[in-house]
Amino acid sequence: MKGVILAGGLGSRLRPLTKVTNKHLLPVYDRPMIYYPIETLCRAGIRDIMIVTGGSSAGDFLRLLGNGADFGLKDIAYTYQDGEGGIADALKLCEHFAEGGRILVVLGDNLVQDDISPYVRKFKNQKSGARLLLKEVSDPQRFGVAELDGNRIVRIEEKPEYPKSSYAVTGIYMYDRRVFDFIRDLTPSARGELEITDVNNRYIANGDMHFDVLQGWWTDAGQFESLYNAAALIAHERGVQARG
Ligand code: G1P
Repeated sequence: MKGVILAGGLGSRLRPLTKVTNKHLLPVYDRPMIYYPIETLCRAGIRDIMIVTGGSSAGDFLRLLGNGADFGLKDIAYTYQDGEGGIADALKLCEHFAEGGRILVVLGDNLVQDDISPYVRKFKNQKSGARLLLKEVSDPQRFGVAELDGNRIVRIEEKPEYPKSSYAVTGIYMYDRRVFDFIRDLTPSARGELEITDVNNRYIANGDMHFDVLQGWWTDAGQFESLYNAAALIAHERGVQARG
């Protein structure tokens, strides 16, 4: 299975940090943010990776990562997203890369503690459809939120004011080839983006959405608090304590 990392967008929620560079090149403790999703894919045994980048410093990805030697990769495929069209708009650019196969998609600002290999194996054993990874959080309003009925996701709401559960939809998505057909049918949301939540709701409507709940920690790093939190989690993993 191939992997895709979405690292485009303008990172406007992190201005002025993102005024002259791409969000995914910012440091998270001792590594650039983009290293973490690459490691997530590599740990899951995925070695055929495309990075979707964008903005004005896209060339820096090539300088930083080259052919992926730091991760034991032979090469990395890159593509470029114009503007801030949303996650689904970025994913659209990977259709030819996927070559009709299944893909594992990771948002470039998502960090996860677990080795996700067991979930990827479950996805490979599915006949078709999609698979999400959920995580219980204290601030679900910031995310896509899954409404659950037993062990079924009934619907996902994007950043709801009154969340129907505390289960956030993390930025790790597994899709079969139909994902690109669903993206073609999308219309932009109120924030002017093609939403990945609308794609996921299509799979749910088709009765072909499955999920697991992450056990270890998970965080995004797209806002000041979550970027700080991500660095603190990594520092803690490395045995570092803050001092003053
Ligand atoms: C995106 C998705 C949201 C998901 C989140 C995970 O939000 O739209 O459903 O929960 O990533 O990080 P965004 O970061 O684009 O606001």
